[in-house]
Amino acid sequence: FEVSWDAASAEKGGFSSFMEKEINDQPAAVHDTLLGRSDESGKLVLDELRIDPEELKKVNKIIVLACGTAAYAGLVAKYAIEKWCRIPTEVELAHEFRYREPIVDANTLVVSISQSGETMDTLMAVRYAREQGAKTVSICNTNGSTIPRESDAVLYTHAGPEIAVASTKAFLAQITAAYLLGLYLAQLRGNIFSGQIRDVLADLNKIPEKIQTVLDGAGPLRELARSMKDEKSVLFLGRHVGYPVALEGALKLKEIAYIHAEGFAAGELKHGPIALIDEGQPVFVVVPSPRGRDSLHAKVVSNIQEVRARGARTLVIAEEGDEAVRAYAEHVFYVPETPTLLMPLLTTVPLQIFAAELASAKGYDVDQPRNLAKSVTVE
Ligand code: AGP
Repeated sequence: FEVSWDAASAEKGGFSSFMEKEINDQPAAVHDTLLGRSDESGKLVLDELRIDPEELKKVNKIIVLACGTAAYAGLVAKYAIEKWCRIPTEVELAHEFRYREPIVDANTLVVSISQSGETMDTLMAVRYAREQGAKTVSICNTNGSTIPRESDAVLYTHAGPEIAVASTKAFLAQITAAYLLGLYLAQLRGNIFSGQIRDVLADLNKIPEKIQTVLDGAGPLRELARSMKDEKSVLFLGRHVGYPVALEGALKLKEIAYIHAEGFAAGELKHGPIALIDEGQPVFVVVPSPRGRDSLHAKVVSNIQEVRARGARTLVIAEEGDEAVRAYAEHVFYVPETPTLLMPLLTTVPLQIFAAELASAKGYDVDQPRNLAKSVTVE
């Protein structure tokens, strides 16, 4: 039989939108960003990073500059970079950075994160940092764009062209590239021993197949999203690396479904936001692994209990096998087991799918949401 593909549909790989295609491109985006950047002994190989290793060894502060989703990628990476490199790492919204007389010098490493490499807020912040003497590295998805050209070095993400305005695969690729940079710095400075680097790389290399597992099991989540298309407000809670994931989940819903959505650090609930919880209020909760340290898991489970007790609809993203969340969750969406620092590469995916499905259930154009541009080239 004749399959009639229109050109656009062929371009979208048969998916209903570029965003859906790009959500499903994410195993490849992470795989391709990892490709060729470590050797068979499990050593990082980032020769493309044209900064003198001796200079990198002197770095005593890292500032990540980005906007929107790229800034949330920086927030995720901060936890890993500080853990591995023991270098103070600040994540700054680029448009705020240069107006506050930041403390920057020759031992500051500025890492800009930008899918397009043309975001004017980020470009102007990078220029300012360079004037102050900082070394600058660009994590970028667009070869030859302005920000990498004006940086000392670039670590390209290999997510492929991202057409949908709402960033998805670039976000996961940005986190992946930032992790590679953090591991490289730790390797250079001897902060962590080679065995640990090898283990992290081994765990990272398993992520693409784990993302595919999440994609394959998204049916029930899609149904839930369609049933919630008339919701007026959705809250997102997360803790530790789950906090930036909550922010990203809220941003996705805001920008393509035009629904009020807000991400919170779960620990903030009792400091105010819990007053928002009304009967039927949908709350997504991104739960840390029960295998993690610091009893973070128990704290977040009690957060679920608190909001549930006040009538919230608790929609939980948890690690496969986590039975403790079931008692207080209206719905649980599981992601495969993975080390805590890598969980955002999996827990983000259900939130992307939820937003895309709900927006399309509302009949909205998920690729070209109102008022937004793919690259904000004005300040
Ligand atoms: C993400 O969904 C948004 N489209 C937006 O926040 C974007 O991440 C931000 O404008 C930064 O863009 P860039 O990565 O191209 O610099």
